[in-house]
Amino acid sequence: MSALKEGEFVGSLDCGTTSTRFIIFDNRANIIAQSQEEFPQYYPEPGWHEHDVNELQETCDRVIEQAVAKLEEAGYTRNSVKVIGVTNQRETTVVWSRTTGKPLSRAIVWDDSRTRGNVLHFENLLETQGIEIDGKVRRGKDGALAIKELTGLPLSTYFSAIKLRWMIDHREDVREAHEEDDLAFGTVESWIAYNLLGGVNGGQHISEVTNASRTLLLNIRTLKWDPALLRFFGFRESVLPRLVSTSEVYGNIASGPLKGVPLGGLVGDQQGALIGNKCLAPGQAKCTYGTGAFLLFCTGTDIVYSNHGLLSTVAYQAGPQSKPVYALEGAIAVAGSAIKWLRDSMGLIESAGQINTLAGSVPSSSGVYFVTAFSGLLAPYWDSNATGLLIGLTSYTTPAHVARATLEANAFQTRAVIDSMVLDAHSDLAHLKVDGGMTNGDLAMEVLADVGGFEVVRPEMRESTALGSALLAGSAIGLFGWDISRPETLMEVNTARSTRFNPRTTEKQRAEAWHGWQRAVDRSRGW
Ligand code: G3P
Repeated sequence: MSALKEGEFVGSLDCGTTSTRFIIFDNRANIIAQSQEEFPQYYPEPGWHEHDVNELQETCDRVIEQAVAKLEEAGYTRNSVKVIGVTNQRETTVVWSRTTGKPLSRAIVWDDSRTRGNVLHFENLLETQGIEIDGKVRRGKDGALAIKELTGLPLSTYFSAIKLRWMIDHREDVREAHEEDDLAFGTVESWIAYNLLGGVNGGQHISEVTNASRTLLLNIRTLKWDPALLRFFGFRESVLPRLVSTSEVYGNIASGPLKGVPLGGLVGDQQGALIGNKCLAPGQAKCTYGTGAFLLFCTGTDIVYSNHGLLSTVAYQAGPQSKPVYALEGAIAVAGSAIKWLRDSMGLIESAGQINTLAGSVPSSSGVYFVTAFSGLLAPYWDSNATGLLIGLTSYTTPAHVARATLEANAFQTRAVIDSMVLDAHSDLAHLKVDGGMTNGDLAMEVLADVGGFEVVRPEMRESTALGSALLAGSAIGLFGWDISRPETLMEVNTARSTRFNPRTTEKQRAEAWHGWQRAVDRSRGW
């Protein structure tokens, strides 16, 4: 075997909701080696969704090993990986013991809706006691507004503080650890970073600010944990990780094939995709269609508060001393997972990609609407009581119509989010940049443009989420001259061509279809 040469690459560990991958990029975002693995999903009761975080960590370790082996097969030494970044599913809530480093429960996944009762409890608490901020008590609607001003978020089953409360209230081990001051809480990047950096043998308990901005505990203006929110939800301060920026060296990998390599980027996956798409300036937006769909619109250093059901969130903080950059976000809980449901639970298709063939076998959904509210509806509706609804069925309806209605559901929800975004940000969207597994099908993209009435732009290299964390990690050590706070340094990255999809429908057709969708959504609510 010929001697291996040393290159200069950056690795990105992308821990999504259903699979984990490790991708090794060069300075222009060419993929040199990669590995991907799915991990088990647990649905112990209707509306519940859990991950075993030991399995999650083992999958991460394996994909790193496999990708490094492929790197060597491609003729490069493992030392070629100069830095790595991590990007992850957000909000998913992990708890472990600070003494043993072991998890105290399975993680509650972001789309789990078991905590409806807790949301109701905190809404009532706002009515009766209110929330005390700087010595002033704010009650009812004003209390909810105060929480939104602090965190950018509404009270919802989606966010981590509510899930943590459930765990402390319902899991003996977690409650005891909280009482005994041994509880470590984190989102997925906290858990992965803790383990990569040594776990109980020296690992740090840290949380990165884009992830922290999804917990309902972070003041998104000061980027500090907020004592008023801690009091309101009833947590000890010691459960919280130390906050870190999106791009800095947090430490070195403690073991495995990349031992000694700096960990230089941590970022929530949707913010990662925003960065990977180089939407770093105000007004630029992307939508990622993975398990769910998440449209983020960069608002620069201003926090824009939504009056139309969107979230204000931290997009990134380029370094410990940098000012944060913010985004408006429309989160749609169900996108690719509806296709998975058609495949795994309904048996309508054998593979996810087949949806495009099946849906493409009919010219329209013939009046069928599918509101995919499996765990309630997130943006812009925020209704945790909504349930899934298939309506408009006749004896003419076939699986092909249902498949098409599934693609349309995705497009209608995207349109709803964009309509809100235009109202909140007072600017039109020139086009929508898209990525994620669901964007591989041309028909899904045609349907999106036809229903939405906007141009859809799909880049050829669509690993934007992983690329985002690679850019952040590279920036942290100045690799390739990258600097996330100076977008001009990223000009040479991922310049491959894009495919554009333009609407082929008339405004009248779009208006009629939209009217039908709104009626269907109304019926799915308050069930
Ligand atoms: O907020 C949840 C989101 O981060 C999950 O992303 O790509 O795993 O669907 P994804």
